[in-house]
Amino acid sequence: MNIIFANQKGGSGKTTHCNLFANYLVLQKKQELLVLDMDFQSSIKSQWDADRENYDNPSLYEVIDIDLSESASLMDQLTNVEGHIIIDLPGRVDDDHLVPVFQKANLAICPFAYDQKTFESTLVTAQVIRHINPKIPIVFIPNRLKAGAKYKLTEQVNQTLAQFGVITPALPDKVAFQRIDTLTIPEDISQEVTQTYDFIYDRYLISEKVK
Ligand SMILES: Nc1ncnc2c1ncn2[C@@H]1O[C@H](COP(=O)(O)OP(=O)(O)OP(=O)(O)O)[C@@H](O)[C@H]1O
Ligand SMILES: [Mg+2]
Repeated sequence: MNIIFANQKGGSGKTTHCNLFANYLVLQKKQELLVLDMDFQSSIKSQWDADRENYDNPSLYEVIDIDLSESASLMDQLTNVEGHIIIDLPGRVDDDHLVPVFQKANLAICPFAYDQKTFESTLVTAQVIRHINPKIPIVFIPNRLKAGAKYKLTEQVNQTLAQFGVITPALPDKVAFQRIDTLTIPEDISQEVTQTYDFIYDRYLISEKVK
């Protein structure tokens, strides 16, 4: 299955959840996967390189740095890969090189937050992905919810996004998300992360024969 992490809003949590979801699939669901880092910032690839240098533990998966301009030919070769392909995307949707990536994706995961700007970006992202790949399931992860904060837009945002896909249980703003690596799921966020990712896994991956 090809799973993309997308949202044109910078800093919405694509890389964080791409990394943690990959860890979750290997550690908790014993799945095989390959991570493609298509973001020019190469955050996951850098983290993976650092973890390989700093820890003796074997990597859970391989991470390959991909230039977006190579994505079209690459997506055609992916059919030979065993296991899931997990793809971290840059914070934009207006690059033509993304078209083959959206076309070949089987599931889109969009982390977002309940502020006006992020909502608008998330909506545009969903519209573009749906336009290019009309059948793709889209999953929205409410991310970085601050304890005690009131979000005026919650209902309106949920209603609008529900027209494009499903909304998972929300994830809190916790510093543990800023200290992740490519080897573990930090204990202090394990429960929340597992609940949210189980929601996605049970709906979209469990019955899916690995493509
Ligand atoms: N739930 C969370 N709680 C606290 N910090 C978080 C949470 N999710 C993400 N962050 C932090 O927010 C910042 C942005 O997250 P991340 O890099 O995953 O976003 P992104 O969508 O990949 O950004 P970009 O568009 O720049 O690629 C990072 O410093 C990350 O550690
Ligand atoms: Mg990123």
